[in-house]
Formats: sequence, structure tokens, C-alpha cells
Amino acid sequence: MPTAADARLEVARLIGRQVQRKPDSVLGLATGSTPVGVYALLAEMHARGELDFSRVTSFNLDEYVGIGPEHPASYRYYMDENLFRRINIRRENTYLPDGMTADIPGHCAAYEEAIRRAGGIDLQLLGVGGNGHIAFNEPGSSLASRTRLKTLAPQTAADNARFFPDPTKMPLHVITMGVGTVMEARQCVLLATGANKTDIVARFVEGPVSAFVPASVLQLHPNAVIVLDEAAAAKLVNSEYYRWVYDHKPAWQRV
Ligand code: F6R
Repeated sequence: MPTAADARLEVARLIGRQVQRKPDSVLGLATGSTPVGVYALLAEMHARGELDFSRVTSFNLDEYVGIGPEHPASYRYYMDENLFRRINIRRENTYLPDGMTADIPGHCAAYEEAIRRAGGIDLQLLGVGGNGHIAFNEPGSSLASRTRLKTLAPQTAADNARFFPDPTKMPLHVITMGVGTVMEARQCVLLATGANKTDIVARFVEGPVSAFVPASVLQLHPNAVIVLDEAAAAKLVNSEYYRWVYDHKPAWQRV
């Protein structure tokens, strides 16, 4: 897509189409800076009467351990602020890992079970970390991993410290869906924008599949869509071909 705004609109339309086609969709949601604009667009589409979330269920990818929903850097707080309170999704249908749980392994197993009971995730929104992580599956995460506790890599901790008023109090542990959990979603949509994602995009899209670049596992997903702006796509060898394919999509595949 020419600009980050175009890329965000494409992703919002993909999610919107999913909800219109299947009003009781199960959405997998991400946090971080990349999807903020997508959530704003979804809220606008809802305000215009184009999207009804009353039957939608959502599961977020991850949450920090040791901070509760009232903490402004918690992902529950982020989701409430950026999306949930702006649309008509039912609060009891919005799931995030509980960073304050006393039983992390039990909670992780229950989270997996809740996804199964909901019928599995129809569309999983993803971002990518500078080191190739998806959710908080840092390099070296098993490509078969499930929801569990992870320790953030130093680069991720440094990247995300900006969200904490006191970066020294940032948790280094998170609960995250596993790579295997993400791979079970029926469709994965990864959005990456900006020059700070250029190198990692080239590695995970066109490099070898490796646990050391967890996003590269999407090469094995039967229905993965990678939406990029020009800056993030700048080092892709085959970008002309990707553009050609996009421009020649049959009408039914377009959003
Ligand atoms: C967030 C998440 C992470 C982010 C990634 C990119 O729920 O799971 O994988 O998608 O760290 O973050 P930003 O968008 O801030 O560059």
C-alpha cells in the first residue's frame, strides 16, 4: 500500500468484511502502536452504522504479568480505550490473558480452552516486533508453542518501555498465545508499517522459516495476508510481483 494510512484502511476493511459476513465472528486482536489506527477506523465504521459487534467475541494475543486492568500500560486498558468502549462489543465477550492470575499455567490452559469453546479464531490480527516476534513469541519460541508465560527479549523490553510512565517498573514477563495457537486461526492478517520494520519484513516474508524469526511461520499458514506500506516493504525482492498480484485480484477477493 502506498502509505501507512492506506495499509490501515485495508486491514480495517478486511476485519469489517469478516464481521459483516459472519456477525458472530471470533476475532484475535493485537495491541502495540501499529493497530491503533485500525481500531479508530473500526470505531468510525461502527459509528456510521456499518459494523455491528454485538455478537462478536474477541481474544487478545497477550498481556503483561503483574499489572491489572486499571494500569494504563496494561493491554486490557489499551483495548478498552482504543476499541472496546467505542463499539458495541459485549464486555463479557472480550478476552485477554489475566496478568494478575495466581495460577499462570492453569490460566493459560483455560485461555486455550476458551478459544476452542468459542469455535476457534476466524481472523487473527497481528503486528511484528523488530526481532520478528508475533504476539510475544520471542526468537527461539517453538513454532508449536501454546499460550504460556514468556520472558521479553531485551530489545522488546526497550521497544515497549515508552508505554510505561516509569520504565524501570515495566514487567519483563507476559502471558502470550503461542505460535501454534496463532497458526490455528482461520485467517491471519499481519500489519507492518514504517521504516523500522523494513529489515524484519524482508526476513520473515522472503527468508527461511525459522523459530528464530517467529513471524516467518506465516509462510506455512494456509490463509495469511501481510499488509505493508511502502516503507515496510522497501527491502522485499519480489515486491513488483506482489503488487501485480494485488492489482489483478479477482473481484471476489478484493476488499
Ligand atoms: C501486541 C503484540 C506484539 C506487537 C509487536 C509490534 O499484542 O502481540 O507482537 O504486535 O510488538 O508492536 P508495534 O505495533 O508497537 O510495533
